[in-house]
Amino acid sequence: MQQSLSSEPPRQRVYRSRAARPMDHAALRHLLEQSRTRNAHEGLTGLLVYHDGCFLQWLEGPADGVERVWRSILRDGRHIEIEALPTPWSPVRLFPDWRMRLASGEHPAAEADAVPVDLLAMHRLSQHTDIAPDFMQGIAFWRSLPSPEEMALVLCRGEEPEVNRLRDRVLEQRPPLSALGWHVVGPVSRAMGEMWMDDRLQGAELVLGQGRLQLLVRRVAGQRPRRAPRPGGQALVVPAPGEQHLAGATFAAVALDAAGWEVSFAFPRDDAELVAALRSRDYGVLHLAQSAVFAREDRLADLAATIQRVRQSLTRPLLQILVSGRAFAENPGLSTVVGADGDGLGQGSDVGDLQAMLRWAGARGWLPEAAAAQAAVDKLARQLLRGQFPESHPGD
Ligand SMILES: Cc1cc2nc3c(=O)[nH]c(=O)nc-3n(C[C@H](O)[C@H](O)[C@H](O)COP(=O)(O)O)c2cc1C
Repeated sequence: MQQSLSSEPPRQRVYRSRAARPMDHAALRHLLEQSRTRNAHEGLTGLLVYHDGCFLQWLEGPADGVERVWRSILRDGRHIEIEALPTPWSPVRLFPDWRMRLASGEHPAAEADAVPVDLLAMHRLSQHTDIAPDFMQGIAFWRSLPSPEEMALVLCRGEEPEVNRLRDRVLEQRPPLSALGWHVVGPVSRAMGEMWMDDRLQGAELVLGQGRLQLLVRRVAGQRPRRAPRPGGQALVVPAPGEQHLAGATFAAVALDAAGWEVSFAFPRDDAELVAALRSRDYGVLHLAQSAVFAREDRLADLAATIQRVRQSLTRPLLQILVSGRAFAENPGLSTVVGADGDGLGQGSDVGDLQAMLRWAGARGWLPEAAAAQAAVDKLARQLLRGQFPESHPGD
């Protein structure tokens, strides 16, 4: 018998563990089928994340059912090093109709309806469990949204009332800024770019849509408590020289500001102006933003040259250089190929922990899972850096 989902505040349990042996598709499927049958019986819902041999699970439901299943989970030989994480985080169910869904960057095909999650987010989650609440809220936020293409159309073409409805729908979820990056800014920008390239959007509509997306990011950032500025936290955000799209830079600025950095903007026309701007203050971070809408592969060589020139011109070793834009959001690791220290602000990474991201980017380079894709990206990037450009984007 399937129990009804009562309106009582649910008991929640969150834990992480390590798979005793790597799980393949079949093993994950079996685990999910077994879990769903019993969860339906006990009235439980939740989300199971599997990444890099680690589990992270959110279980919610009536207290006695959650505790019974939790005891089974503790005894289960398929995983080890089970570590309960602080709970509860939410007064209501985050996943009221998911008997247990899987989110796995490694096994996107294990289930037809696996939750799409960005590899970088998954990786960071396995390294920093303190972002688990934001991550889980982010998934709950994602499932409440229309598709990226629908959102793109509303933003680019919608009348004000329709746009306001979408804005309110996003705001009422009070999403973490990182979730807005993962689930709205990145996918919606990309959808806009694709529709424009397929002639389904006019240039003016694209500009309007990007402007509205920027306003949305600012509204969400305004909802969040601002963190105290960090010592030495001055950041310079610039559109990469030659980049006409400014939205990516705005997203980066909002994200850095929300993370407690003191942000300045500059619009250098060339590398010399950029270096002059950098010399005017003691910046800890330089963020070079490319378009969030178009991949700009043909600009990567210039961007790499800019970064090299900046490093040669400045003697301060503390300057960290970040890059963002569609090309970087789609290719983890590309940032290091162009000589930056990391990628992502406003384009798919948690902005609250910039330092950890920089450490990670420096120490690891890129995601081990992405190694195969990485080889192809590296090859492309090396060609680009030698000046062998692929065909350029229309409209540039
Ligand atoms: C990572 C992981 C997550 C699991 N999640 C659930 C779950 O959500 N619900 C559930 O009933 N069993 C879950 N299980 C399986 C239980 O540990 C257990 O095998 C199953 O509930 C059968 O219980 P029993 O052996 O006490 O009869 C999970 C096991 C693992 C290793």
